[in-house]
Amino acid sequence: MRRRFEQVWEALARVGDGGAAGYHRFAWTPVDLALRGWFEEQAARRGMTYERDRNGNQWAWWGPPGPGAVVTGSHLDSVPGGGAFDGPLGVVSAFLAVDELRERGVTPARPLAVVNFTDEEGARFGVACVGSRLLTGVLSPADARELRDADGVTLAEAMRAAGADPGALGRDEEALARIGAFVELHIEQGRGLADLDAPVGVASAIWPHGRWRCTFHGEANHAGTTRLADRHDPMLPFASTVLAARDSAERLGALATFGKVRLDPNGTNAIPSRVDAWLDGRAPDAETVRAMVAEITAAARTAAAGHGVRVEVVAESTTPVVRFGHELRDRIVAVLGGVPALPTGAGHDAGILSASVPSAMIFVRNPTGVSHSPAEHAGVDDCVAGVAALASVLEQLACR
Ligand code: GLV
Ligand code: MN
Ligand code: MN
Repeated sequence: MRRRFEQVWEALARVGDGGAAGYHRFAWTPVDLALRGWFEEQAARRGMTYERDRNGNQWAWWGPPGPGAVVTGSHLDSVPGGGAFDGPLGVVSAFLAVDELRERGVTPARPLAVVNFTDEEGARFGVACVGSRLLTGVLSPADARELRDADGVTLAEAMRAAGADPGALGRDEEALARIGAFVELHIEQGRGLADLDAPVGVASAIWPHGRWRCTFHGEANHAGTTRLADRHDPMLPFASTVLAARDSAERLGALATFGKVRLDPNGTNAIPSRVDAWLDGRAPDAETVRAMVAEITAAARTAAAGHGVRVEVVAESTTPVVRFGHELRDRIVAVLGGVPALPTGAGHDAGILSASVPSAMIFVRNPTGVSHSPAEHAGVDDCVAGVAALASVLEQLACR
């Protein structure tokens, strides 16, 4: 299995690899189409029935598609400058778990499917887990179609350019009704398993989280001739807001990150007219997220007023807390001989699906805990242990 893992992994790892700059695998781009081609080919190689659903999610079926299916998989897209593992490890492990089950000579008693969810990271259009949110109806098709990338291209336009039909987007009762259980394998995005010296574990919960766009409207002017007292520079209240976010997160036991900023006009010798900055906020409970965002918004307003700048704060997406159901989780922990259960601050399609169908996650150890970075890594032995664990879980869920 080690050799097979390396072979499948290396073929996929070449797609969208920016070397030291990391992966740039954005939804509905030529790189995404290459990843989708890889998925289709893996399905064909295994004689699995391939489908693309109304929301662009890809499915590979072992046995006829139908209700009560045990579904496994993850996503193939990445954040800007991402690592190789966040997402792809779950899809590769899913296909290899099918191989492993076949080698064990077991045949599923119910349908088994591998899935690649579209646009989990939301790197291009701003909203995460678009494929699973649309499938479950959490995101309306009308809102989804109007999402725009940094160049102003809508999701609908991007889909059409990639040969997909945005008119078909929306809650998919038929696809949902087929999922009996969903198990997503994922690299851990912290050091929990490393600290416990465990190669695999399961997820207990996902922190509530969200994305807020903060727009500071100032006044463009000349960097060399505008007196400091005459400026309405939106960078200054933005800078204060970044510091206030850190302070608030520290006091409340939460996390706040400004990881994306857009400046207009973005010239070295011009005071900006506008700063758009995106706040990613997360905490163990929704009340803390709400309190933190309220504090940060108040700090932004005070700082903006002090500079004659106008500020707007708009929630672009929010995701409630996820507590994975005990029944499925306990079954998985038992199959895997009592592996640890850990909460995570990272969002996942399994979290979105958990509101509609029984869902669970298996984590694979990440020795450094680094993720959303080219340095993200898991050892081959741990990845192979993950495949074996997933195969055993699928055997228990689908073959008995
Ligand atoms: C997805 O990886 C997220 O947690 O933002
Ligand atoms: Mn991610
Ligand atoms: Mn992921």
